[in-house]
Amino acid sequence: MIKCALISGKGMGLRHGANFHNHADAQVVAVCDMDPELLEKAKEEFGVQGYASVDELLAQSDAELVLLITNETRRIAPLRQLLAAKRHVFTEKPLCGMEGQFRVREQDAAIAWPAIRQWRASGLKFGINYNYRYFTHFRKLHEDAAEGRLGEIKMVRARAHFNCWSHVIDQILWTMGQPEWVSCLGEPSEEGGWQRMIHLRWPNGVNGALDGSNAWGYDDHPLRIMICGTESYAEARGLDGWYRRCKAGGFKQEVEELWEVEEGRQEYPESFGRMADGVIEAMKQDRPLPADGEAAWQELLFEAAVHRSALRGGERVRLSDVESDVAKG
Ligand SMILES: NC(=O)c1ccc[n+]([C@@H]2O[C@H](COP(=O)([O-])OP(=O)(O)OC[C@H]3O[C@@H](n4cnc5c(N)ncnc54)[C@H](O)[C@@H]3O)[C@@H](O)[C@H]2O)c1
Repeated sequence: MIKCALISGKGMGLRHGANFHNHADAQVVAVCDMDPELLEKAKEEFGVQGYASVDELLAQSDAELVLLITNETRRIAPLRQLLAAKRHVFTEKPLCGMEGQFRVREQDAAIAWPAIRQWRASGLKFGINYNYRYFTHFRKLHEDAAEGRLGEIKMVRARAHFNCWSHVIDQILWTMGQPEWVSCLGEPSEEGGWQRMIHLRWPNGVNGALDGSNAWGYDDHPLRIMICGTESYAEARGLDGWYRRCKAGGFKQEVEELWEVEEGRQEYPESFGRMADGVIEAMKQDRPLPADGEAAWQELLFEAAVHRSALRGGERVRLSDVESDVAKG
């Protein structure tokens, strides 16, 4: 039985807590929230001891896995505290964004870097909730690309609403690996989610484009990723769920696979439960968590490079340069 402690009595925290608690091999044994009302709510929800601070939680509870479901503006300090106390950690995304997830900057990567270094040296498990990896349609896209069903990959084209932003980046990196450079047009000081048009180039010569905006809404799918290969091209869309793979080229569309989520089912909420199952399975088998600290770091590094490029008027920014500058401090 994996003993879990939940930090957060808010909605997203309770959602994760319930998914772990309802699993046959895991149990929430303690909760923590600095807000007394939310702490009471969480205690009631799970019928367990509650603590008002991470210090108290660590002193009183032997939970091995901590669900740290705080905001990106306040994740790094408790993460470091938990790792120092030798606890495994599962958290939400993005890893760090002191001005919120819509404006992740190079400074955020610099803030997160000591935590990543600490985690790498710790031997502990650290996972981040890139739950879109557990949407059926995004998994199909990943598997078709990774297992060669698209042929040689030539191009990636994606767009997203900002509520899905770090997920769309994770999806691209999960399938394609880290690009060599990015170039971004956009004005990072723009209010709210700044509109971004990003070009990417991978070391093997594959080109990509990713656009971010809140100007398009949820009506026409907030998130789309298309990958084009020499044999086939495929696209996954939306929170509800749609996937199509077609034969490459030619005038007439030849659909090889079409998948749509069944009426009445929703991939989004189900993906959280599947992620919890994946985390528990990895814990039991002593494997890295499904999207681990490296995934968290690569996504943040990508955002840092995009931010630097936009500030420099679209200059090509190599991700390795950003990483070495961040590491130098
Ligand atoms: N994966 C998804 O699809 C998805 C969807 C929606 C939201 N999210 C993410 O979920 C996260 C939700 O965060 P939130 O806004 O609920 O977090 P929050 O920062 O408001 O913290 C949640 C709770 O934890 C408590 N808390 C925070 N830091 C604490 C500390 N050091 N000690 C004790 N208590 C502490 C707060 O009092 C609060 O009640 C965001 O990062 C968001 O991006 C993910």
